[in-house]
Amino acid sequence: MTSTQGQPHVTMDEITALAKRRGFIFQSSEIYGGIGGFFDYGPLGAILKRNVKDAWWREIVELRDDVVGFDSAIIMHPNTWVASGHVAQFHDRLVDCKNCRHRFRADHLPSLEKCPDCGMRDTLTAPRNFNLMMQTSIGPMEDSAARAYLRPETAQGIFVNFKNIYQSARKKPPFGIAQIGKSFRNEITPGNLTFRVREFEQAELEFFVPDDGNDLAWYEQWVSARKRWYSDYGVNEDRLRFYELTPQERPHYAKAGIDVEYLFPWGWGELESIAHRGTYDLQAHMQLSGKDLTFFDEAGKAKYTPILIESSAGMDRTALTMLIDAYRSETIVDAETRKETNRVVLGFHPKIAPVQVGVFPLARNKPELVERAKRIERELRPHARTQYDEGNVGQLYRRQDEIGTPFCVMVDYQSLDDGSVTVRDRDSMRQDRIDATQLRAYLAERL
Ligand code: GAP
Repeated sequence: MTSTQGQPHVTMDEITALAKRRGFIFQSSEIYGGIGGFFDYGPLGAILKRNVKDAWWREIVELRDDVVGFDSAIIMHPNTWVASGHVAQFHDRLVDCKNCRHRFRADHLPSLEKCPDCGMRDTLTAPRNFNLMMQTSIGPMEDSAARAYLRPETAQGIFVNFKNIYQSARKKPPFGIAQIGKSFRNEITPGNLTFRVREFEQAELEFFVPDDGNDLAWYEQWVSARKRWYSDYGVNEDRLRFYELTPQERPHYAKAGIDVEYLFPWGWGELESIAHRGTYDLQAHMQLSGKDLTFFDEAGKAKYTPILIESSAGMDRTALTMLIDAYRSETIVDAETRKETNRVVLGFHPKIAPVQVGVFPLARNKPELVERAKRIERELRPHARTQYDEGNVGQLYRRQDEIGTPFCVMVDYQSLDDGSVTVRDRDSMRQDRIDATQLRAYLAERL
């Protein structure tokens, strides 16, 4: 599918097929017919998602001196979810059809009079609350005392550890705590590949600031920082928007909130939420646990509850966005024959690309070429994500374009004579001939 005004530049069918064909994303437990809302990442998808997470972690934790990293357990004390409001409020309203027994989200139906699947009238039940938290039980007894939840967000692990962390890390507000980890939600309507799933990874930053009048300025700073991050990694600005929530759309305690949205093939979808949450979360845990989570300010000799600025991004959704955003299908003309062909390219940012450099011999039946290409690939391996491959030259380039490899190194007969190789640029398809000893420096500059 080519890009035209107002039309998506790719369909979800094309992305799903490419994701499977090249080993980015597979349906979980496919040999048993799959299981709805769960996906596995293939060899390239696992690296893609890791690169997205590393890019987030580097920016949010490693390159700052006011954010510390953290990693909490998936299962927490059940009271956590009482204090956070998830037990009472984390619901979807569902209706069942008494005829076909299908279940629907009430807010997804145009009317409650007619079943959208079997078409029968007056067969839908009144809406009932369905809690989205996944349950499990701890230990051998399956009674209610053993009931626990798989966390629906990673943030609560940070809140309940607030004091442990600021004391051990010797931090004082303004400072942040960041973590990346799995979350689980029993979504009623999972769909659009990894966009809405039941097991996913979140990257959450909880930034605590003093109540000194600068809280909104901190919020704005984080919104700008997150805008910069998406733009640094090349997400097309025309397909990204920062939607400001109205007071009616945000929780009563939140002073401001923004949803970061991407224009997916089916429409706008949320990638991340950034919110000014006031003191709500720490207060809620103090109230239920009876423990003090305030901060003692030595200078002012007073305790206070810090204000919280949150940035919460879905790593599966971000990886999917990178995949979709990078996709282009284009017609190319062979310089010599003038023949037109089509190529699919994933124009990944070099830091996100699962493979950064492909290395091939011009002919796989010439041992000198094969040996030289393998040696070059081995030598580059500690410095870049490399892949050795061999076969038909056109197909080799086509495959690397389709997995988004920014550079391909070709070892040919001239390489054996003078030690040079050609380096092909994915986007311009330009080929530079350079000395193999210069390869590392050449690639380092461009990756
Ligand atoms: N602590 C705040 C929080 O969890 P959220 O808006 O519910 O906020 C944050 O979730 C992000 O987590 C979303 O913007 C999205 O990227 C991701 N996310 C939420 N539910 C998801 C699901 N079912 N599948 C994939 N990602 C999901």
